[in-house]
Amino acid sequence: MENNYALVLEEIASKGCLRHIPAIEYREGVQAVLDGQPCLNFSSNDYLALSTNTSLRDAFLQQHGHDAQCLFSSASARLLSGSSQVYGALEAEVAALFGKEACLLFNTGYQCNLGVVSALVGKGDVIFSDKLNHASVVAGMQLSGAAFYRYAHTDYAHLERFLHEHRGKFRRALIISESVFSMDGDVADIDRLIALKKRYDCLLMIDEAHAFGVFGEHLAGCSEGKDVDVITATFGKSLASMGAFCVASRLIIDVLVNKAASFIFSTALPPITVLWTYFLLHEHRAVLYAQREKLLGLCAALGCPTQIIPVLLGESDAAARIARRLCEAHYFVLPIRPPTVPPHTARLRLSLTADMSPAMVRGLLAAVQQLQQEGC
Ligand SMILES: Cc1ncc(COP(=O)(O)O)c(C=O)c1O
Repeated sequence: MENNYALVLEEIASKGCLRHIPAIEYREGVQAVLDGQPCLNFSSNDYLALSTNTSLRDAFLQQHGHDAQCLFSSASARLLSGSSQVYGALEAEVAALFGKEACLLFNTGYQCNLGVVSALVGKGDVIFSDKLNHASVVAGMQLSGAAFYRYAHTDYAHLERFLHEHRGKFRRALIISESVFSMDGDVADIDRLIALKKRYDCLLMIDEAHAFGVFGEHLAGCSEGKDVDVITATFGKSLASMGAFCVASRLIIDVLVNKAASFIFSTALPPITVLWTYFLLHEHRAVLYAQREKLLGLCAALGCPTQIIPVLLGESDAAARIARRLCEAHYFVLPIRPPTVPPHTARLRLSLTADMSPAMVRGLLAAVQQLQQEGC
């Protein structure tokens, strides 16, 4: 019986898409040691370069390490005994940051999108989703039981054709888009999406996973101050923490508390993690702003609209080959292959972090060009 699974792996391998967990031995700032080899790390979502900041960590432990609520386990779901004041304090902080009535914490961005989408729509409802939305949104759509239409990436004329043709047949409708797209680094036209959601009476949900902490006057992302009904984001990227959240009206958040299975039936985040996120957001906001300025300065120097730079290579084996050679040249860049990205669009995804210099990025881009010229 188990042999059947060997076939599963063989099939993935035959497409050049077999995944392995990289052997990271050490990680600090822009450096990582991979398989004994020191590398510049272009594969992290630590956009503000805070996840290995030991001064901040030490300050946190000194200040909060002995708090009664600074615990490693919540020991149950929020709706049982796994909640405490620290969760409410972080939720209030995030809701205020986004100018929304309420916020609900989730354990990860994946669980958040899964729970939110599947709770807000169901049978008889409809979802209109950007074709390149994250796997967690797709999983949520499938779980919801709602009908769904995936419009071509950022093609709002295509979205409007779907809305015109199908919106009228369904009760509730949800339009979903990322703001900064995770694999392409391009940005959705939020104003256009808002106009469409109003014209066709839909809720608009924006996943700010890659924009939270980076864009927006108050670091809330690309939809800051805009009429977006439901916003999700993760603390696991810019915020150098763990967990995620949804901000929306009190009514929507109350629906999530009652219907989002990934919230209801899962042990809550450890209180120490919630405290750490609160510490960064509430007590060290100035550090976040300073790091964000560095990151945006780097993007501007390179002429990149966001901190994610895709280098399209086409086929999976080419992407894997070039990534391997880059690793030998001390650059840690992973190949991104289908099904994470559409077929024939395998790529390198360069992820910039605040402590990189333009020279580091240019060095990597030159190395990629060199490899391509050599026919690698
Ligand atoms: C757009 C987007 N949404 C959600 C997630 C999931 O967040 P988390 O890593 O916290 O599960 C990710 C990536 O991880 C993402 O890229």
